[in-house]
Amino acid sequence: MSVLSAVEMAPRDPILGLTEAFQADTNPKKVNLGVGVYQDETGKLPVLQCVRAVEQQMGQDPKPRGYLPIDGLKTFTGAVAELVHGPEAAASGKLVTVQTLSGTGALRVAGDFLLPLSNGKLLLSDPSWENHRAVFTRSGFEVGEYRYKAADDGLDFDGLVEDLKAAQKGTVVVLHACCHNPTGYDLSDEQWDTVVQLVTDGELIPLVDMAYQGFAEGPEQDVKAIKKFVATGRPVLNTVSFAKNMGLYGERVGALQVTCTDADEAARVLSQLKVLIRTMVSSSPTHGAAVVAAVLGDGQLKAQWIDELAAMRDRIKQMRRRLVDGLVAAGVTAANGKKDMDFIAEQAGMFSYTGLTQEQMVQLREKWGVYGTDKGRICVAALNDSNIDYVCEAIADVI
Ligand code: LMR
Repeated sequence: MSVLSAVEMAPRDPILGLTEAFQADTNPKKVNLGVGVYQDETGKLPVLQCVRAVEQQMGQDPKPRGYLPIDGLKTFTGAVAELVHGPEAAASGKLVTVQTLSGTGALRVAGDFLLPLSNGKLLLSDPSWENHRAVFTRSGFEVGEYRYKAADDGLDFDGLVEDLKAAQKGTVVVLHACCHNPTGYDLSDEQWDTVVQLVTDGELIPLVDMAYQGFAEGPEQDVKAIKKFVATGRPVLNTVSFAKNMGLYGERVGALQVTCTDADEAARVLSQLKVLIRTMVSSSPTHGAAVVAAVLGDGQLKAQWIDELAAMRDRIKQMRRRLVDGLVAAGVTAANGKKDMDFIAEQAGMFSYTGLTQEQMVQLREKWGVYGTDKGRICVAALNDSNIDYVCEAIADVI
C-alpha cells in the first residue's frame, strides 16, 4: 500500500478551477467571467503603460536579484505605507508594512498572526470571497459569518449590525475596504461609521481586506474605511494587493499593514510578522515589488497609473450599464415575468452578483460556454463589445 493511497481527491477551486474548465472548453464563443481579472476592450489582459515604462528601464539596467529582507523591499513598503495611510502615518513609527505574496499571502500572514491574539473566532461577510473561509480555516480559526447581502438586492445592513453586536469580544472581523467581492455592494460613509463604532465598542479585531484599491472611486477615496478604523486609535490590520490595480496578478505583490498603538508595539509586531513570513516563504519576490516601488516613487509614473486605473474603472462602469441595457433588450424584465437586473449598475468593482442560481450558472456554462461562479458571480471587467450581446442572450436564456 502506498503511503499516498489514502489521499482523497480535493474539490476543484471554486474560482481558479473555473479557468481550468474554461481552458478545456472547445466552444469558440466561450467567455470567462469566472476569475476577477480585468480585460481591455479587445479581451486582453493589459500591461499598464506605467509598468511597461519601468520594465523598459529595468531591461536597460538589470539589477542583481539577491534575497529581499524578510519584511520586503524597503522602497516598496515605504511607498505602500504612504499610498494607503498617507505620509504622516507612514512616518509615525506606529505603522508596520510588510511585503507579502499579494493579498492572499497578506491574509494568511494576518490569520496566523491574529489567531493567538484573538478568541479563535473570525467572522466573514455572508457571502465573501470564496477563498477567505479556506485561508482562515487553515490558520486555525473557527470561521463564522455576519449577514451582508439582503435576500433580494442590496445590503442587509440591519442584519450586519445585529451580528456584529452579537460577536464576542476578541473576534476577528474581516471587512472589504471597497468593491465587495462577490456582491459589489459597498457600505456608505455613515454605514462605515456605524461598523467602526460597533467593532470598537465590541472590542472586536478589524481586518480590512483591500484587493481592489482604485476600482470603486479612486486610490485615495477607497482607503476611507481603513482611515476610519485608524482614527479610533485602536489597532487595525489591512491588506493591500497590486494584482488588479496595477495588472500584476502573477507577480504576487501585496502587503500586510498593522497600525499599532505606539512604536514599541510596532517593533514587536514587526518581529512576529517576520517570523511568520520566514517560516512560510522565507522572503518575498523582487520583481513586482520593484515595479510598484518605481511607479509609486515617481510623480509622473504615479499620475499615469492613476489615469490608467481610472480608465479601467470607467470601462467597467460602462460595461455594467451596457449589461443592464443588453439584458433589457434580451427580454430580462419584470414585465416579461423575469427579474429586473438594473441593480447591476449600482454595484461597484469588478464583480456583479447576478442572483442566478447554481443550476442556472451550470446551464450558462454547459450550454453557452459562459463561465461565472456557481454562486452567481460574474466578472463584469471581462465584458467587452464583442462578447456582451452573447452574454446577455445566454443569461436571458437560462433565467
Ligand atoms: C477572484 O475573486 O476572482 C480573484 O480574487 C482571484 C482569486 O484569486 O480568486
